[in-house]
Order: sequence, then C-alpha cells, then structure tokens
Amino acid sequence: MRKPIIAGNWKMNKRLSEAKTFAESLIPLVNTINDCDIIIAPPFTYLSALDDILKSSSISLSAQTMSHELAGAFTGDISAVMITDCGCKYVIIGHSEQRLYHQETNQACQEKCKVAMQNKLTPIYCVGESLKERTNNITLTVIQKQILECITDLPLDSQEIIIAYEPVWAIGTGKVATPEEAQAVHQFIRQTIEKAKGTEIANKTRILYGGSVKPANIEDLINQADIDGALVGGACLELDSFVELIKKTNYVTH
Ligand code: PGA
Repeated sequence: MRKPIIAGNWKMNKRLSEAKTFAESLIPLVNTINDCDIIIAPPFTYLSALDDILKSSSISLSAQTMSHELAGAFTGDISAVMITDCGCKYVIIGHSEQRLYHQETNQACQEKCKVAMQNKLTPIYCVGESLKERTNNITLTVIQKQILECITDLPLDSQEIIIAYEPVWAIGTGKVATPEEAQAVHQFIRQTIEKAKGTEIANKTRILYGGSVKPANIEDLINQADIDGALVGGACLELDSFVELIKKTNYVTH
C-alpha cells in the first residue's frame, strides 16, 4: 500500500508574513486528513518559522534543494544538517529549475540523495524530459538515465526515496500531461526501479506527478495505478486550491 502525497513546492514565492499565515490557516483545514501525506517546501529562510507553527501538526516540511557537502567554505550553500535542524523531513533534489539554472547533473543528484539519506532526510527526486526530448521520442531513455544514475548506489532497502515525474514542458505552462501519458512514464519508472532494486522496493516507492497540477485535473491523475500523488507548484500557493488538492487525493491509495 502506498499512501499518497501532496507536496507543495513554493519555489521563490511569498513573504515571511504570508508564509506564516498560510501555515497557520492550513492546519485546521486539513486536521481530519489521515490518508494523504502533506508536505510543503518553502524557501530556506522560512523553514524555522514554519517548523514552529507546523510541528504539532501532521504537515511535514521539505527544503527545495541542498548541498552535497556537510560544512565548509561553500558560500551560499545550505547543508543537510542545517535543514534537518530547521525541521525538514524531506528535500527536493534534481528539480528541473535546479538542473537548468544551477547545472545540477544526475551525478550531483545522486551525491545529494546519498547525503540526504545519511542525514535522515527523504529525497523527493525529480526527473522529466524536455519538450525537444519528447518530440524526438527519447523520453524513456532520458528518464531511465536520470533514474539509474541516481538510485543505483542508494540504500533503498533501508531508506525511502520519493520520485517526482515532472515533464519539463508541463511545469508552469498550464500544459498538463494526459493521465495516460503520465501513467505510461510512471509505470516505466516503476519497472526501471524494479530491474535495479527488486520488486519489493519498486512496489513501495511513491512516484508523484508534477507539472500544472490543479484541482480540476488531480483526480484523473491520481486514479492512475502508478501515480501516488503530486508535486505542485502554482496551485499550492493559494490555500484554497492546495486544500482542494489534498482533499481530492485523500481517498486514493494504490
Ligand atoms: P507547476 O510546478 O505546478 O507550477 O507546474 C510544478 C513544479 O515545478 O514542481
């Protein structure tokens, strides 16, 4: 059984006061939700303040990225221990915006996932093809490489990784993959994990879809056999739509 997840990736949005109000308002709206894990990933600078607000709730915190180094002369970087000190249980790794703007490679993602796990963080590892790659019919080749280059040496028998399939052409564009298109890639990701790590690990790994997820399209996506929730950008910034996504996901377990 895989419990679904709705994870809100705030990216570089909200002021501190808005972040606090959002978290305070969210708690009573989702306090009867038991069958969906709720995660929010605010900017680093809000983690501590939100941890104070959320620590008595079942809502978990994620960072949006981290360094693979633990400490030292790395100006501007944030380590795994720093984000765990701020209350994070999760960390997003390999988001396409980090791959694009910060040249994050599969190899760097693998190192970050390893360090995250050593520090009791669960990575939310993002993969996804560009529009050009999809048009050139190399989607599955790209995804397979992103998955294998990251997970092969990770200790998935003892620790969890969450995969987020986010087609780059669907992020922030309003162009969502059809449920069938998404399911085909999710199924392929599960098969790839199975070949590398065995059936048990493949069956328990939660695979989220990301890319223009909204209350209007979540149900068709989450009803697909291998889609275990969503990593949400735009629609997680407004309280109403985030809560609606959570409520619509709460009843589905694969
Ligand atoms: P979006 O972003 O929902 O705004 O498309 C998703 C993401 O980048 O994680």
